[in-house]
Amino acid sequence: MKILVAVTGASAMLYVQSFLEMLERESVMVHGICSEAGEKVLELEQRKDSKNLPAVTRWFDCKDFTAAPASGSADYDAMVVIPCSMGTLAAISTGITSNLIHRAADVMLKENKKLILVTRETPLNRTHLQNMLTVHDAGAVICPPHPGFYLKPESLEEAAMTFSWRLGDQLGLEMEGRKRWGVMNNV
Ligand SMILES: Cc1cc2nc3c(=O)[nH]c(=O)nc-3n(C[C@H](O)[C@H](O)[C@H](O)COP(=O)(O)O)c2cc1C
Repeated sequence: MKILVAVTGASAMLYVQSFLEMLERESVMVHGICSEAGEKVLELEQRKDSKNLPAVTRWFDCKDFTAAPASGSADYDAMVVIPCSMGTLAAISTGITSNLIHRAADVMLKENKKLILVTRETPLNRTHLQNMLTVHDAGAVICPPHPGFYLKPESLEEAAMTFSWRLGDQLGLEMEGRKRWGVMNNV
């Protein structure tokens, strides 16, 4: 499996770290793109730049429209935008592709491939909600970063992990150690 991960400038960078660590454990091949705002928020929240994130073996410049993800002939099985800002959501919903992340997402939709948007904002205005519905109808999965508190996480990292498992389910990963309701409590 080959996954394209895009990091944009929304809060909740802890989830990117957790998700990429999981992909590394699962030996998934990962390529990445990080927006300018994504780099800024990553620095503010995690004190690191995208190149220090795990699992990603190749980073593309967000301004490079000649890069592989810009073409429908690229062989990614899925793309995950994590976290996905409302700005990037709006670009994907309108099809206005002004950077490589927007273009790559547009390509995933036109090729009928899996596109998962980990949208992060609160509260949501009408435009956000409309854009979410538009991309949902175009084939994307809207997957806000909500931890599974019923799995009793004991730290922020464990809470983030419960969400990474949901993304792994979307991608069809086996995930050793994945806790599931109905298994852990014998329901
Ligand atoms: C610390 C910080 C946190 C932010 N959190 C969010 C957020 O949760 N959701 C969002 O839509 N925008 C958020 N923004 C604003 C975006 O970074 C901004 O709209 C940016 O233009 C998005 O660009 P991008 O989608 O190309 O990454 C945040 C900005 C900063 C500095």
